[in-house]
Amino acid sequence: MSAITCIADLQALARRRVPKMFYEYADTGSWTQSTYHDNEAAFQRQKLRQRVAVNIDNRSVKTTMIGEDVSMPVALAPVGLTGMQHADGEILAAQAAEEFGVPFTLTTMSVCSIEDVAEHTTQPFWFQLYVMRDRGFSESLMTRALDAGCSALVLTLDLQVLGQRHRDIKNGLSTPPKPTLPVLLELAFKPRWCWNMLQTKRRQFGNIHGHVKGVEDMSSLAEWTNSQFDPTLDWSSVEWVKKHWNRKLILKGINDVEDAKIAVGTGADGIIVSNHGGRQLDGALASYDVLRDIVDAVGDKIEVYMDGGIRSGQDIFKAVAMGAKSTFIGRSYIYGLGAMGKPGVTKALEIMRKELDVTMGLCGETDITKVGRHNLVL
Ligand code: GLV
Repeated sequence: MSAITCIADLQALARRRVPKMFYEYADTGSWTQSTYHDNEAAFQRQKLRQRVAVNIDNRSVKTTMIGEDVSMPVALAPVGLTGMQHADGEILAAQAAEEFGVPFTLTTMSVCSIEDVAEHTTQPFWFQLYVMRDRGFSESLMTRALDAGCSALVLTLDLQVLGQRHRDIKNGLSTPPKPTLPVLLELAFKPRWCWNMLQTKRRQFGNIHGHVKGVEDMSSLAEWTNSQFDPTLDWSSVEWVKKHWNRKLILKGINDVEDAKIAVGTGADGIIVSNHGGRQLDGALASYDVLRDIVDAVGDKIEVYMDGGIRSGQDIFKAVAMGAKSTFIGRSYIYGLGAMGKPGVTKALEIMRKELDVTMGLCGETDITKVGRHNLVL
């Protein structure tokens, strides 16, 4: 195999190594996938100002997120079923993130549990919460995250109902996979994945399995979501969350200036400009396209992060130049994980840091905290 030089190489390898239902779970958007594709296209539309003859020795891409030092403006985003991209995926990704010096966010819908990840890491990670109809269960998730030492809660606001992803239905997505003939045939071509998966016991939704009474089959993410996620979630629910969570709070899924302004009023510490990677409201604006207005409206009052479409260090640079304090990456590290496990996540982070550093230099900048709209062709 030729050298891996970009995220697309990791993606190609993940496509070969990860069973189709899980690879496609990550690499998909809802309905027509227009927002999914536009998230990436928006970055491509943005051109950079090339500056020359500037001393660009001693560059730094270090910054902070909610007061925590990060080695570059990136956090690993919560991604459902990470432990199905690779056995023990959440633990491996959390370890890679910790070693690299960026935050890892564990999703409610993970395979490895909060306690599992805490046991296998040494630094606090962040926990992403879906509010369930059973508020008692959501409360217990927050207690578990507090007990595990999580330093921030990422509260997702844009998934009260699930956007339909055609491929998940066609593939019969479930965890563990149901042993139908097509699934068994597919697994026969993924021996490395199967071998690793046989070495672990973690194959179900670790935060939920065994913790919720009366729920028998929750292997299907779509069924679980539709029956358990709380559609009444509103701004008063954020107040309710704050009663149970006294550490840093980040609100995820803000894609509109009005919502950004309301979010500031909740006293949260950060917002993530996001359309859930194009997986929820198909037809919503690309995250990068809405970032500017949100930064202008609230950027001086709250830390503004963004996710959606970030596949390179150049994209990170553009987001920060537009005014994001930092970014979250999902698929970019998931492809690394599916391709090569923990070293693949590290590889993805290294690729992006190098791209970010070189881009910054060629734009005539040496400190990521000083880049701004003056670096963009606007
Ligand atoms: C859940 O977070 C999903 O997007 O599948």
